[in-house]
Amino acid sequence: MQKLYADVAKALRSNKMAKIKIWPHEEICPNGAEIESLPDETICEAALRNNIKIEHACEMSCACTTCHCIIRKGFDSLDEASDMEEDLLDKAWGLEQTSRLSCQTIPPDNEEIEIELPKYNINMVSEDH
Ligand code: FES
Repeated sequence: MQKLYADVAKALRSNKMAKIKIWPHEEICPNGAEIESLPDETICEAALRNNIKIEHACEMSCACTTCHCIIRKGFDSLDEASDMEEDLLDKAWGLEQTSRLSCQTIPPDNEEIEIELPKYNINMVSEDH
């Protein structure tokens, strides 16, 4: 925990945090949220650190699609998805042109992105919701 505080303080001093606006999602984030990510922190890690419980069934190891998000602003500022991420995304519910796996996506320093969490993920769909 102490390391986390040190990382946050360092990021604040260097002014390298990215802003992530999360659109409202009925269950995960009803009012939407605006959070900041630390350098090298993924969208999923930043959300979880801010108590926004994005699903991450494979523990962020790029082996499921439950952390799927759609980038609504700032997509072009992101690094390209790996082949492995692209292959997995093909199986995601509600895939769009700007879909990414939030556990594999690091917002660039000082950028502002907006994301939407799909209504369902593959776990929910397979449970007949
Ligand atoms: S948590 Fe499984 S791919 Fe992101």
